[in-house]
Amino acid sequence: MLVALLLLLSLSNEVRVNGLCEHNPAPKPRPHTVSILEFGAVGDGKTLNTIAFQNAIFYLKSFADKGGAQLYVPPGTWLTKSFNLTSHLTLFLEKGAVILGSQDPFHWEVVDPLPSYGRGVEVPGGRYQSLINGYMLDDVVITGNSGIIDGMGLAWWELFSSHSLNYSRPHIIELVASDHVVVSNLTFLNAPSYSIHPVYCSNVHIYNVSISAPPESPYTIGIVPDSSDHVCIEDCVIETGYDAIALKSGWDEYGIAYGRPTENVHIRRVHLQASSGSTVAFGSDMSGGISNILVENVYLYNSRSGIEFRTMRGRGGYIKEIVISEVEMENIYTAMAATGYCGSHPDDKFDPDALPLLDHIIFQDMIGTNITVAGSFAGLQESPFTNICLSNINLSINAVSSIPWECSNIFGFSNSVLPKPCPDLETLSDCLSLLSVKGKTSDM
Ligand SMILES: *[C@@H]1O[C@H](CO)[C@@H](O)[C@H](O)[C@H]1NC(C)=O
Ligand SMILES: *[C@@H]1O[C@H](CO)[C@@H](O)[C@H](O)[C@H]1NC(C)=O
Ligand SMILES: *[C@@H]1O[C@H](CO)[C@@H](O)[C@H](O)[C@H]1NC(C)=O
Ligand SMILES: *[C@@H]1O[C@H](CO)[C@@H](O)[C@H](O)[C@H]1NC(C)=O
Ligand SMILES: *[C@@H]1O[C@H](CO)[C@@H](O)[C@H](O)[C@H]1NC(C)=O
Ligand SMILES: *[C@@H]1O[C@H](CO)[C@@H](O)[C@H](O)[C@H]1NC(C)=O
Repeated sequence: MLVALLLLLSLSNEVRVNGLCEHNPAPKPRPHTVSILEFGAVGDGKTLNTIAFQNAIFYLKSFADKGGAQLYVPPGTWLTKSFNLTSHLTLFLEKGAVILGSQDPFHWEVVDPLPSYGRGVEVPGGRYQSLINGYMLDDVVITGNSGIIDGMGLAWWELFSSHSLNYSRPHIIELVASDHVVVSNLTFLNAPSYSIHPVYCSNVHIYNVSISAPPESPYTIGIVPDSSDHVCIEDCVIETGYDAIALKSGWDEYGIAYGRPTENVHIRRVHLQASSGSTVAFGSDMSGGISNILVENVYLYNSRSGIEFRTMRGRGGYIKEIVISEVEMENIYTAMAATGYCGSHPDDKFDPDALPLLDHIIFQDMIGTNITVAGSFAGLQESPFTNICLSNINLSINAVSSIPWECSNIFGFSNSVLPKPCPDLETLSDCLSLLSVKGKTSDM
């Protein structure tokens, strides 16, 4: 019990102390600024400005050792295909500036799959390059004064839905193996697939962004921290077709071999809506492991699922040391879910004996109205989910509901939870000490 107590203490200390949302100094202003106009860009929404963006960023590379530089995008509608950022760069979109992604798939370069996935996630083989890319960068800021980046996803959603994609869909922003990344003060619309995808990154701060994609847009996701660490997401509003925020870390044998977890992530003060998916999802691609995550002070609404853990046989990896706290939910079909039967495999080379671990998941201080299923927990028979801890939760269940809890192959404990949980959540476990640490459950 003492071990578990120390574990949680170190866990929440680490999540808070290691900087994350409490310790994010504002980025220093850049000593040099150039406008995209100086590179011949035309903001009429029709002229393709890719060369202007590429040339401007190439020119700004020379300021990397002089404090970096800012690329200023003035009001106007700037059509472009994919371009790459550079280190020590700020991309700044003025109020009234809209960057539009070119809709023609023939405009999009194809790049190699990510090593932790082994193939494109939607179609085997390569992937279309994202609209705005970074590879092995340091100190990148993508910000503005309410500027908009519109991924123009409609054409991509149609290709996806009609099974006509030749490669997996692009994202709006993808930063690979980069450090010290800030994304803020912008609006993202209509992502072809994800809006913001940091993968193999460290020290990522995403704040004050608004992300939206229509409810019917297939599998659109807002922010996907993927095999990344020290990520803070705060003060955002995200409304998407599938998941609002999804934490991932690679796919089956490729993710296990790559072995890079997503850890030390702090999510707070966000409003999330996920029409057909989950407002906060873990997995199902989690083969590199996901741990030490704090989600607090969040409002979740009008969604199929609130907080959902997804995995399956063959994934390996783990999801552990997760704290979900101070949650308000409204109009959510399933408030909390964990399933060991969700997802697909990249190919037939996965190891069916690679069993995922799900352990030390804490839900506390939650209220909800118009909830249909309070909790749906289905662990793997060969690898039950352990230490699922619930405390101080009051969900008001609607009349549609038949059974508020569905539980199998899980072990955990609950305290002050309404409606009354399944017996599987009444086993003695580490929860006893984990929950009492917070001091809000002194009656236990
Ligand atoms: C952008 O970077 C990718 C790899 O990260 C590379 O394949 C591509 O050629 C680059 N594009 C340009 C225009 O430099
Ligand atoms: C959020 O960003 C907008 C511009 O997009 C800005 O006007 C506003 O002050 C920012 N709010 C905070 C709290 O940073
Ligand atoms: C996909 O590939 C097929 C066959 O090569 C080709 O006819 C089609 O134009 C391609 N579609 C796109 C969107 O690239
Ligand atoms: C975002 O806007 C806020 C409020 O105007 C400002 O304090 C902050 O520095 C801006 N962020 C960036 C990265 O410019
Ligand atoms: C209750 O939530 C469901 C979604 O689970 C939604 O379809 C329904 O409209 C909500 N009812 C009310 C009265 O808001
Ligand atoms: C649970 O919430 C409902 C309103 O949604 C309230 O009427 C009830 O008193 C609450 N129960 C507890 C034990 O707090």
